[in-house]
Amino acid sequence: MIILDEITPFAKGGNRICFVHPNNPGRCLKVVHPGLLNEIKKNKSWYKRFRSIKSFDDNLREQQAYNQRALRKGDPAIWSHLAKWYGMTETNIGMASETELITNGDEIAETLETYLFREGITEEIKLSIEKFQTWLREHLILTKNLIPHNLVLGYENDKIVIKIIDGLGSQAFIPLPNYSDFFAKRYVERRIELMWSRINWDLSGRHGNWK
Ligand SMILES: Nc1ncnc2c1ncn2[C@@H]1O[C@H](COP(=O)(O)OP(=O)(O)O)[C@@H](O)[C@H]1O
Ligand SMILES: [Mg+2]
Repeated sequence: MIILDEITPFAKGGNRICFVHPNNPGRCLKVVHPGLLNEIKKNKSWYKRFRSIKSFDDNLREQQAYNQRALRKGDPAIWSHLAKWYGMTETNIGMASETELITNGDEIAETLETYLFREGITEEIKLSIEKFQTWLREHLILTKNLIPHNLVLGYENDKIVIKIIDGLGSQAFIPLPNYSDFFAKRYVERRIELMWSRINWDLSGRHGNWK
């Protein structure tokens, strides 16, 4: 079992804390905030409604998402814009998802959000977003809404390469995109459209509703 007590997390999201894997600097371990699941459990009315605490676990949701049709095809190009998945790993603070740590040289990659707040929409970032969109359309990767803080900027041959590190999966209520290319195409187009409205909302000072 991996002990994470002595290690300072490099980031925290709304749901999970992220560590560099102590035995493998190329990998990231994410644990659902200790306490978060218990908080939900304590709130009995919620717990009763959903029964299983598992339905709140982002790591389990992600594990299922990595098992989606598009990713089972075995085409290596699948990984060009997605952190690789290495399964679940036991740690002393709970089960962790183990994924590829995206870096920029010796640094941990910054998010698209950080970049946009600093630089705005540059030609360089526009190009890398276009490449990312082409990949989404080509492979019909199902994601939840693509939010700039869930996308990070890796570098390959001095070019920015956008990588999904959170938010894989589908938020369609009826899971047609999981089974049919026709519905998957429509679904992916809508995610791209909404990604741009979120980017523009972020850049315009977040007034009103972004959707
Ligand atoms: N594989 C990764 N490589 C580099 N940075 C990452 C990686 N995973 C997460 N991060 C950083 O950690 C932050 C929080 O991780 P995230 O998976 O989004 O947590 P949450 O599920 O709580 O939203 C991200 O916004 C990003 O800055
Ligand atoms: Mg996140």
